[in-house]
This record gives sequence, C-alpha cells and structure tokens, in this order.
Amino acid sequence: MLSREIITHGSIVTLNKSTNYSSANPTLNDPCVPIIGNSKEILSAISLAKKTARVDFNVLLTGETGTGKDLFSRYIHNHSNRKNQPFVTINCAAIPKELIISELFGYEEGAFTGASRKGKSGKFEAAHSGTLFLDEIGDMSLEGQLTLLRVLEDKQITRLGSNLSKKVDVRIISATNKDLKKESELGNFRQDLYYRLNEINISIPSLRWRGEDIIILFNHFVEKIFGRRILISEEARDVLLNYNYPGNIRELSNIVKRIFINHEEIVMIKKHHFPKEIIEATLEKRPANPFLCMQRKQIEDILHRCHGNISESSKMLGINRRTLYRKITAYNISIEKFRKRA
Ligand SMILES: Nc1ncnc2c1ncn2[C@@H]1O[C@H](COP(=O)(O)OP(=O)(O)OP(=O)(O)O)[C@@H](O)[C@H]1O
Ligand SMILES: [Mg+2]
Repeated sequence: MLSREIITHGSIVTLNKSTNYSSANPTLNDPCVPIIGNSKEILSAISLAKKTARVDFNVLLTGETGTGKDLFSRYIHNHSNRKNQPFVTINCAAIPKELIISELFGYEEGAFTGASRKGKSGKFEAAHSGTLFLDEIGDMSLEGQLTLLRVLEDKQITRLGSNLSKKVDVRIISATNKDLKKESELGNFRQDLYYRLNEINISIPSLRWRGEDIIILFNHFVEKIFGRRILISEEARDVLLNYNYPGNIRELSNIVKRIFINHEEIVMIKKHHFPKEIIEATLEKRPANPFLCMQRKQIEDILHRCHGNISESSKMLGINRRTLYRKITAYNISIEKFRKRA
C-alpha cells in the first residue's frame, strides 16, 4: 500500500540531483551553540527540553520565527541517548511538494525521470537510530502528511520504486511557526498527524516577553560580533527593552551586526547607533515597558537603601544574590554609584 502510494507520486517528478534541501542554518552544524537566557520563560522551556530528551517521545517545537526552534532541536538530540547517532534535518517548506516523498524515503534506480542511476537513500534511512528534524512541518503538503503518518504508524519505509520495506528507528522532532492546531481545524493539516507529532509540545517564548534576556543576548552578540564588551547607555537600553522583535533573536543579532558595520569603533552603544526604523518603532509602539521599569526602579531603591550591599539588598528583595547580580547586569545598573554614597 505504502509503496504504491509512493510510486504514484514518484512517477511524475523530476529530481534535480544537486539540490540539497536540508536547512542551511550554520547553527545546526555546530552542536556547541549554547541556549542563552535566564528568564523564567526560557529556563522552563530548557528544562522541559532536557526532560523530553531522555525519553523517545515525538516533540513539536512551536514559536515565532527566530525564537530558537532549530537550536532546541539540536539541544534535545544532544541530550538524548541518540546523541552519537545521526541528526538529520529536512526543511519541509523548501522542498517542492512532489519531491518530499523521495527526499524522505529515497528511491531505487530509475524510479522516475531524473533519478540518480544508483538510487538514493532518504532522510529516514539516513536518520536511522538517530533523530529526524522536520523543520517547517506546517508547510508539508497533505500528501506528504499522509505518507509521513503511515511511516510513523508502521515504523518502516519503502523507497520509491521498490517493493521492499525497511524497519526504521527514528525519533521525530518537528518545528513550526504556524498554529498547527488551528491549521488542523481548518483542514490544512491532518489532525491525526498533529497528535502523533505533538506528543510533547515545547513552546519557545518570543523575545519581547523575555525581559532581561534581551540585554543578556544583546551583550552576547556584541561580544561575539565586535570581539569585545561594550557599555550600553540608558537610552539605548530602553530602545532594546521596548522594541517588539518580530524576527526575535535572529533580528536582535542582525541589529548588532548593523551597529557593527556602521560604528565599529564605539566605546558605548547609544540610542542613535541603532537602525532608524528600530528607534522609530519603539517611539511609536509603546512607552517604556512598565513592568521592567518598575522592577529596575525597585532594585535601585533597595541598592540605594543598602548602600550597594548585595547580601542585604537581595534579602530585602526576597531573591538570592545570584539572581540579583543577574538583574543588575541585565539592567545595566552601576552598583558603584550606590557604594560611593555609603
Ligand atoms: N537562546 C539563544 N541563545 C543564543 N542564540 C540563539 C538563541 N535562540 C536563538 N539563537 C540564535 O538565533 C538565530 C535564530 O534561531 P533559530 O534558527 O533556532 O530560530 P527558529 O525558531 O528555528 O527560526 P525559524 O522559525 O525562522 O526557522 C540562530 O542564529 C540561533 O543560533
Ligand atoms: Mg528554524
């Protein structure tokens, strides 16, 4: 049944042999990229990812573009028992829908016009005993979804043009920035497949809700791109905390690149160093984030009262010293000015 289905689709496609549809994201080739952040939101996503890594459940990563779904998929694989086995990625949005089946399951020689003479193994075979990352799963065609569902049920694949089935042991991680539940209600995504893929859902938080992480990540990119640390002015900090980041962390890193290109020598990052449209968006959008302003003010008040003494201040704030240090760094607060008053 499965092979007939595949052959039906395969007979009409032409494959460009040189096409590689795997994600070109360099992060995926570097297993050492850390997931940076200290906010409650990201720490709980990381903790869920870690727990999930230990079991073989299928994981669906959801979140806006640029939030770190690729990074999390790699993280889960690297923390799983499969870490020494292949991690194979396929970008479902980048593959023409007629080719998805041959990409996933491979084909035998002469299976269709343009097929390699020797035939080719598919991503499932390549990922055997490891992890298969189905990126942008929300963009897979309904036909592709049906075939994928069958493989998940049968745990075996059949190459296009072959009658032989092979057992595969693959852990599936998928990712999407679409609302798949809604898509399944609209009939654009198979509901049965949705529940198969979504055994565990990890929702990656948008950057705009990650508060102090914005500054931590900004400093991280500054160090990486400029090759040194740079102070941030109060006003620049406000721009960072009040911008909306529709492109999330990818956009934040691009902002740092733009600052670097135009102001490589600066000693302090000031508001006017930001791209014009970012400054304009923060002016239009909203006033300073009231929650963050309040928290910062509260910390400064307590530091003032305790003359910059961290132990006393953290007790008064009801947080531990480490957390207080983190917040001081994130808010770019100078403790020295409180100590001088002592
Ligand atoms: N927490 C993080 N710490 C450090 N870098 C991060 C973090 N999250 C994401 N990045 C970086 O931001 C960029 C975008 O991340 P990634 O490609 O994982 O996002 P995505 O959610 O898969 O986006 P898309 O939906 O567009 O595919 C990458 O360069 C990644 O290394
Ligand atoms: Mg991605």
